[in-house]
Amino acid sequence: MIILGIETSCDETSASVLKDGKILSNVVNTQLIHSKYGGVVPSLASKNHEKLINYVVDKAIDDAKINLLDINAVAVTQGPGLIGSLMVGLNYAKGLSIGLGIPLIGVSHLEGHLFSGQIDNNLRFPYLCLLVSGGHTQIWKLDSFNDYKILCTTVDDAAGEAFDKGARILGLKYPGGPEIEKASTGGDINKYKFKIPFVKSNPLNFSFSGLKTALLYLSQKFSKVELDKELSNIAAGYQECIIDSLLKKLSLVVDLHHLDNILIAGGVSANKRFRLKSSILEKEKNIKIHFPDFKYCTDNAAMIAMVGYKKMLQNDISKLDILPFSSIEHA
Ligand code: KG4
Ligand code: ZN
Repeated sequence: MIILGIETSCDETSASVLKDGKILSNVVNTQLIHSKYGGVVPSLASKNHEKLINYVVDKAIDDAKINLLDINAVAVTQGPGLIGSLMVGLNYAKGLSIGLGIPLIGVSHLEGHLFSGQIDNNLRFPYLCLLVSGGHTQIWKLDSFNDYKILCTTVDDAAGEAFDKGARILGLKYPGGPEIEKASTGGDINKYKFKIPFVKSNPLNFSFSGLKTALLYLSQKFSKVELDKELSNIAAGYQECIIDSLLKKLSLVVDLHHLDNILIAGGVSANKRFRLKSSILEKEKNIKIHFPDFKYCTDNAAMIAMVGYKKMLQNDISKLDILPFSSIEHA
């Protein structure tokens, strides 16, 4: 069974071909135009998806060495995401589905990340997934492909958003995660300490908006020249606090649910310091923490094709043309 996956929920235009559960190709085009604006500009994102989608899908088909007519179903991200961006992928996928007379499978972007660990590993159920992306910071408990529930979430900003907003304060480019990671190299994590935020109403929940404000106040104490001189120390302290906060809550949830099988997925899971500190927690708690391959951490269509494939196997196919418009979730 050959599935074409399409992902256009934010600023990555991506297409992937999967055959019988194996990824044959995964083309990801990250729209670099947003970096100069310090964040994703929705109208530019949809325009660029429109320009790129044909090329990206053709390349995924060529790289996989298949023909368009070999595809048995199209899986597409139906949300959450930027509405204009989602519509480009959805309409393209719908056109293919009608033209080729094959099923159209609507996939939640979150499902994509939650099951991204299944692409190369055969991650056994049940597992906990710490989903850390630009829009979401959540811990889920997954018992099977059909049975999963959210345990805790952020009450304000997501961890990726904290990296992105922090980078903007420090004069770095978008996306902020890789920029802060780079800037932290050689920095002293103890010179500028940030406090791990505590959420009174539910200590398992995350909060990052105060952290960004603390960074703003700290940065205002320095001149531009001093800030550049202290950049690696400040970035290292800020990154450390985000990571420690994520791992602290994860550790609490592990204790509560007695699960030793963990997946950390989403864009922030590409962070190397985060991976290193997770391996320390792994040893301390005698648990197993899995990370997707780097290319499946940030947004990609392979994870969408994988969920589409599982849905096809289980006949859980949402025909988007009979779903109401409201089934497209906004970011
Ligand atoms: O999963 P993703 O590609 O898109 C969303 O679904 O949001 O995640 C993007 C987020 C951005 O906030 C970006 O700054 C962050 O992931 N990110 C990182 C790293 N690479 C991407 N954060 C920290 N360290 C990284 N290396
Ligand atoms: Zn994502």
